[in-house]
Amino acid sequence: MRKAKSPLQTVPPGHPNDRGGKAQPMLIVEDLRKYFPIHAGPLNRKVAEVKAVDGISFSVVKGETLGVVGESGCGKSTMARLLMHLMPKDTGHLIFDGDAVAEPTGISLRELRRNLQMVFQDSYSSLNPRLPIEESIAYGPCVHGAKRAEAKAIARDLLEKVGLRPELFGARYPHELSGGQKQRVNIARALALNPRMLILDEAVSALDKSVEAQVLQLLGYLKRHFNLTYMFISHDLHVVQYISDRVLVMYLGQIVEIGPVDEIYNSPRHPYTRALLNSRLSMDPDERVETAPLVGDPPNPIDPPSGCRFRTRCPFAEEVCAANAPPLGRSSSPLDHLAACHMAHEGSGHSRANQSPAILRPSIPPVAAPVQRIHA
Ligand SMILES: Nc1ncnc2c1ncn2[C@@H]1O[C@H](COP(=O)(O)OP(=O)(O)O)[C@@H](O)[C@H]1O
Ligand code: SF4
Ligand SMILES: [Mg+2]
Repeated sequence: MRKAKSPLQTVPPGHPNDRGGKAQPMLIVEDLRKYFPIHAGPLNRKVAEVKAVDGISFSVVKGETLGVVGESGCGKSTMARLLMHLMPKDTGHLIFDGDAVAEPTGISLRELRRNLQMVFQDSYSSLNPRLPIEESIAYGPCVHGAKRAEAKAIARDLLEKVGLRPELFGARYPHELSGGQKQRVNIARALALNPRMLILDEAVSALDKSVEAQVLQLLGYLKRHFNLTYMFISHDLHVVQYISDRVLVMYLGQIVEIGPVDEIYNSPRHPYTRALLNSRLSMDPDERVETAPLVGDPPNPIDPPSGCRFRTRCPFAEEVCAANAPPLGRSSSPLDHLAACHMAHEGSGHSRANQSPAILRPSIPPVAAPVQRIHA
């Protein structure tokens, strides 16, 4: 029997909807910034600002998965919401597949939202509790002009694609589903407008490990099937290593390192990335660390340190680190591995500039580092 044609259309490279062509990044972000004002006092005056995202620039290559990591509060979700235009930005430009977003000559926000969708961590609150899940998925296509029957066909097709049989699950309400099933529905809903890129913000973090593995597998299948590009935000460094092609590391509202996943995990150039990677728990007793890889809490984003923001926790900090903010730049090959550290840049004035990462070990252990002993 011939299979019914899927109502969903994919956009493979070279398709007419692939406007910018293969070499055009899916998304270019330039100087994105968001400061949240803090009001206080009887007149509720602005007294300070939280520098949640502070002048970040990067691009997302077509068809890749860009992993985003960093400690809680470093600005990952704010960045994602700014990319989705769920909140106004203070500065910055976005270029989606070669078209400036929300500018007279570019694409509209409505068109951006068809192409760029987001899946959040909280699978329950993302769904309308009063709508059966098939209706929830069909809602987006209806709003964007699809006929009801067409929207329902899209919803049923997507339920099938995310592994939920439409005849069993379509009429169920969100409270009748498990966490993993709800997240599958959220993914289906995000795909209902036939987007080209998904931002997954801690989308698997709340799931049990076995369910997480299934959803990660599903994401891999959907990416291949729909020619998608992913931005995958997670605090789980193991999952990011597994799923990503490139990784972006954030610290206190800024990018400190970006590069191919193997480069970042095997030869990190920034001390923060190295400390973050050392904080991973290992199943191998020989690889467990005894000294705390990262000392203290991140500084207050209202009043970040001058120069390099990591300097208050960095065992290599020197005068130049307080005086000048290190640019996000290339230190050595490969060309697409960038780090914002004076040690990674020749002529920066740092005494260890351009030394191999292997010999960049702190000569004095950080003061007051608590001992973290992990027993098998
Ligand atoms: N709506 C808001 N108003 C004020 N501050 C906020 C708001 N949203 C986030 N923040 C602050 O911005 C910083 C970055 O937050 P967030 O983007 O949620 O970080 P992450 O997702 O990396 O944990 C934090 O210091 C957080 O407290
Ligand atoms: S610039 Fe200085 S303080 Fe910042 S990470 Fe590099 S060595 Fe450490
Ligand atoms: Mg977050």
